[in-house]
Amino acid sequence: MGWMSWERFRCIVDCQKFPDECISDHLFRTAADLLVSEGYADAGYEYVIIDDCWLSKERDSNGRLEPDPERFPHGMKQLANYIQSKGLKFGLYEDYGTKTCAGYPGVIDNLELDAQTFGEWDVDYVKLDGCYAEITSMDEGYPQFGYYLNKTGRLMVYSCSWPVYQEENGMKPNLTKIAEHCNLWRNYDDIQDSWSSVQDIMEWFAKNQDVIVPHAGPGHWNDPDMLIIGNYGLSLDQSKTQMAVWAILAAPLIMSNDLRAVRPEFKEILLNREIIAINQDVLGIPGKRVQQHRNISVWVRPVTPVGYTHSYAVAFTSNRDDGAPYTYSVNLNDIGLTNPAGYTFKDLYGDKEFVLRANATLTVRVNPSGVVFYKATVLP
Ligand code: GLA
Repeated sequence: MGWMSWERFRCIVDCQKFPDECISDHLFRTAADLLVSEGYADAGYEYVIIDDCWLSKERDSNGRLEPDPERFPHGMKQLANYIQSKGLKFGLYEDYGTKTCAGYPGVIDNLELDAQTFGEWDVDYVKLDGCYAEITSMDEGYPQFGYYLNKTGRLMVYSCSWPVYQEENGMKPNLTKIAEHCNLWRNYDDIQDSWSSVQDIMEWFAKNQDVIVPHAGPGHWNDPDMLIIGNYGLSLDQSKTQMAVWAILAAPLIMSNDLRAVRPEFKEILLNREIIAINQDVLGIPGKRVQQHRNISVWVRPVTPVGYTHSYAVAFTSNRDDGAPYTYSVNLNDIGLTNPAGYTFKDLYGDKEFVLRANATLTVRVNPSGVVFYKATVLP
């Protein structure tokens, strides 16, 4: 869990015109301050991650990576240590190819040196993108960079864009190998600030669930990309849907938003403890879409506590746009909730609580582009 600059702040580098938004020391110190003061850190959001556009256009005279001296005047280690002094962790973006996606120097010819540099800067998390790279060499190159990260002796989370570039180029990623070398990996397209983008990602993850779900678990996760809740593009209902489905998918919860401007009702979604607990469930088993009918999807994720069956997170999401909340019913057995003694259902976006036995029918009303989200706790 954490916060990352890309989706909201992109490659804004003009600090004269946009002093509060440019990719700079100031932006990341502010993010760290707000993660703590606004209660996000207490809820589990921990990593502050600088995405693209932090580098100088060229390496320094010793061939080392160098942050842009005007936007990061204190260097990276000082910024890292400031963030860490707040009890948080520090992440940095680079690219496996000759250039980052935005055109800054990549690591390809300096794998060992750059890993060492990250170690020296006290980096805790590395996102390694895959623009301007040879797709076929990624199966060797990503593990090699991981090897050099490990060689520094510093623990760093390793986020890989390895599979998404292979997918895009018609290759079938070797997720078994990727899961051995990366802690998380981007499977699919970049998220954008819109409901259609969230829908598109949900659809991809559902369609590919049988291939990708078996590879995820503690320490190695599929990554459907950032949470965009609190920005311009999602309504309140759509924001609830993103949060619920990202919890079902066991996705990394990495916000990209302006923490100074998140309105309270959106913040409440991001800080929902029960939903975060689903997302972070210790079993680490991602959920799946188990039913889809009349533009309503039913998603189920096994979670603790475990009894006769697992407990389950159950989400009903809507791709409908016909105005009134849509009434939808399922038989619990049909979605895999088979405990004869039943389950206590708790509405995770409300207070409702009730008990249903295995053969019972659960009926919900789902708002257009909204969600109804329950935790069903197994009864003895
Ligand atoms: C790619 C990545 C994004 C972001 C940008 C930065 O598109 O997928 O997440 O890092 O590059 O340029």
